[in-house]
Amino acid sequence: MRDSIIIDLTPARQWDTPVPCACRHLLWGPTSAWLAATICPPLGYDSEADEQRRHLTLQVIGEAVLSLPPDECDRVFPSLYLPVMEESNARALRPWRCYLPGPSWWQYRSRIRRLDTYITALIRQRWQQHCSGWQPEDPDLLDKILSSIQANKTAWSSKIEQQLCFEMKTFLLAGHETSAAMLTWTLLELCRNPELTQQVRQEAVQHLAEGACSVASIDRMAVTLACLKETLRRYSVVPVVTRKLLQDDELEGFQVPAGTYIACCLRAVHDLWKQPASWLPHRFLPGGEYESFDDDVRPFMFVPFIQGPRNCLGQNFSLLESRIVLGQLLSDFSFSLAPGVTHEPKLSVIPLAPANGLPVYAS
Ligand code: HEM
Repeated sequence: MRDSIIIDLTPARQWDTPVPCACRHLLWGPTSAWLAATICPPLGYDSEADEQRRHLTLQVIGEAVLSLPPDECDRVFPSLYLPVMEESNARALRPWRCYLPGPSWWQYRSRIRRLDTYITALIRQRWQQHCSGWQPEDPDLLDKILSSIQANKTAWSSKIEQQLCFEMKTFLLAGHETSAAMLTWTLLELCRNPELTQQVRQEAVQHLAEGACSVASIDRMAVTLACLKETLRRYSVVPVVTRKLLQDDELEGFQVPAGTYIACCLRAVHDLWKQPASWLPHRFLPGGEYESFDDDVRPFMFVPFIQGPRNCLGQNFSLLESRIVLGQLLSDFSFSLAPGVTHEPKLSVIPLAPANGLPVYAS
């Protein structure tokens, strides 16, 4: 079985059509080979594989936000960012860890400092470039924010620098593990569903073809998109969000005082659908269950990115990125699940991903 694992290079694809810069390296041949190599580890090597999927989405978001090349993302983030995220997740469930100055406490602090220093240096350097009249050819998110600071004639200060550093870290955090979890669950379901896999593969061949690929063509990958959305409904990778009430309020007839924390269970909303435990992407195709909801209810029946003024800024980016990754993988490889591995979610970490990883064979 192990011999069927593919780690070969596919021919590099040319890129000359407008897809956001950060998604481009997903279409390069080496990335395809890298994906295959990392997503298809030998059986029993699954925790490493999980990490590698996070590395890929980190590379994408690192390029989109800070124009970092993939190898620079690999050099910096796995050693600093990923352990910080792990400790933050651990602290969410075991808050006393914040107050116990053991080795992990010191490591956490030191990594955050190094991460802040690294990101702040990038911001400072980029600001100087902007001040010297430099015009980026392909502006990333940081460029866009700095241009707007310049246009508004806002005075530069250490406070702005710090705020930008926080914003960049938010993007890096919010923008990678979520997409990686969505991809993992979708691949799991597609491994169980050859017919849909074939449809996704056909869409990829048709719409990610060399020289013909654009945002418009990716938007025509309707079945692939439906698979990803159904994954977000079925698995609710962000199952809950919390809010603190700033003023007294009333909820379903109950008086709720200011200062109360409210947990909004997104997963409970997704369980209101018919056969909620089944993964049925056709719900999101024309004539499907999603369309059957009344207009005033529909936006609130599918809330993986929540709704309202603080909804997810990266939702379109994520679905675009993930259509490319899935399409690229399935047009080049066939996957099957490694036997004997269960796929329960790891409930202690958000976003939810399979506790035992997703070891698969590729051919
Ligand atoms: C499947 C992928 C994703 C899911 C399920 C997801 C889900 C969410 C959710 C539920 C929130 C609201 C959190 C809260 O208010 O407590 C959120 C916020 C956010 N997301 Fe995403 N996200 C995804 C991908 C991304 C990506 C790729 C990016 C960046 C490109 C991103 C950037 C953000 C940002 C910046 C916020 C904060 C918005 C604000 O507070 O105004 N997300 N996301």
